[in-house]
Amino acid sequence: MLKIVCSVAAVVVAAIALVISPARADEFTKEDLKKWDAAFQTVAKEGEKLFHSALGKNSVSCDMCHPHASNNHPETYPKFQKQLGKVVGLREMINWCIQNPLEGVPLALDDPRMYALEAYIYWERRGVKLAPGKH
Ligand code: HEC
Repeated sequence: MLKIVCSVAAVVVAAIALVISPARADEFTKEDLKKWDAAFQTVAKEGEKLFHSALGKNSVSCDMCHPHASNNHPETYPKFQKQLGKVVGLREMINWCIQNPLEGVPLALDDPRMYALEAYIYWERRGVKLAPGKH
């Protein structure tokens, strides 16, 4: 009998906890979604501009070798990259290209321009299946 009372009490407590639980991650409005998408699009557009600019010390830009971010394969990162000799993230490879073909100074990994380049590169590959580590 005590067992039954206890389990009923547990169910009641769980139900109350569900009703009064603090804001959950899925609580957002259509307005929020619009605002967040607009913020993302602004950053991705900034990335597209950077992709077409001379980010290094010569006049070379990313799009010359990767039109529309082709052959960037963001969906395969992190992966072993032979130029760097270890498993790296997409941003390390972006920096490799800034330092080598563009003869520039690498960006800090949390530089807003790095996020912008990543946003643009991922946006161009949206819908492609994730394949971390793949060559
Ligand atoms: C002169 C041509 C050239 C330019 C300009 C260039 N890249 Fe690259 N990029 C390469 C080559 C070559 C590789 C190496 C391919 C490999 O080994 O996977 C590469 C690889 C990459 C990769 C990894 C691709 C993969 O499949 O793993 C990314 C990401 C990348 N470049 C981004 C950029 C960005 C961002 C810029 C501009 C800042 C840029 N590249 C400019 C030639 C270029």
